[in-house]
Amino acid sequence: MTLTQDFSLSDVLELPPTAAASSLSELQKLIDDERERCGKVISLPPDKFNDAQSDEVRVRFTGRKSPLQDWLKSLRNFPAEERKEAGAKINQLKAFLEVEVERFVTLCKQAAEQQRLNNERIDLTLPLPEVRLGSRHPVAVAAQQLLEPLRRLGFTVIDGPELEREFYNFEALNIPAEHPAREMQDTFFIASQWVLRTHTSSVQAHAMMERGVPLRVACAGFTYRNELDLTHVPTFRQIECLVVDKGITLAHLRSTLNAFFAEVFGRPVKLRLRSSYFPFTEPSAEIDVQCQQCFGSGCRSCKHTGWLEMGGCGLINTRVLESCGVDSKVYSGFAFGMGVDRIAMSKFGIADLRSLYEGDVLMSRQLALR
Ligand code: PHE
Repeated sequence: MTLTQDFSLSDVLELPPTAAASSLSELQKLIDDERERCGKVISLPPDKFNDAQSDEVRVRFTGRKSPLQDWLKSLRNFPAEERKEAGAKINQLKAFLEVEVERFVTLCKQAAEQQRLNNERIDLTLPLPEVRLGSRHPVAVAAQQLLEPLRRLGFTVIDGPELEREFYNFEALNIPAEHPAREMQDTFFIASQWVLRTHTSSVQAHAMMERGVPLRVACAGFTYRNELDLTHVPTFRQIECLVVDKGITLAHLRSTLNAFFAEVFGRPVKLRLRSSYFPFTEPSAEIDVQCQQCFGSGCRSCKHTGWLEMGGCGLINTRVLESCGVDSKVYSGFAFGMGVDRIAMSKFGIADLRSLYEGDVLMSRQLALR
């Protein structure tokens, strides 16, 4: 038998001339021949067998009509004392053939499959399957869009850690342990003195301490609070602005907010600063923007008040300046911080905060196009 491409299967599969034995020595000869025949077949290259041929090999060696079945039947011609040993020998061969032939047939099938794949032609004229690109989340898009006007107003965009030292999130911002304001921002403590930041205001402390003053920085990023209800989610984005320089007043804050919101909405919008309290600003205010759905007449999205609360602002508390190493007799500053999803809702005309977090791909795609 030579291993040429067009060997004849019938040569190797040919049945042994004597299909029966009546003594152990005769049987041994048959077994040795069968083993050798099988060895020859399974050492042939598997890629030369198509599926029908490899099936033929399996049937020939392990099928119901294989010579082994005849040999088992012919055991009754054996002398009684040889029968047991003869049976054991046949069964041994059977087990051997089953394992080896099965392994070979699997190789053949794999090779045949590979050949089928190789022969597949690629038709370059066929239309391409539709490629569906994902899109960025509307709040992520909004965060980037909000930073643009601030860049134009001369702010440097910086980043801060989401996993934060308790010190930067609280103490440096005049919120000592036990301060009731900590209650307002229930925190995820990761380890002793490490928290997931509850606001981007922690970046204020980093900026002043690490960059020094004067300073004009903005930052957008994730913040975390231990709260979940109809209008609050535990992970949300904020945007933060900080200016520290000589002679900064509320007038600078107000005009920066005016310019910022005019750019965000593409037209001047009415703002209202409502007196409020934050430990890190003094005086402090809430920033309200006139509802862009009803323009003040009252609707569902503004809960019929005509205004939407966007965030907080104020002049930097002198205590904060001092604890960040800034001389409060020479420098003053303002800061504002806002929830990005609030602005996104208003900008994109979304009525329900929760619809931003339902993972609705259609909605993301539609908003991302704007
Ligand atoms: N950090 C405040 C909050 O998360 C918002 C704020 C920022 C208020 C800057 C004043 C100045 O509610």
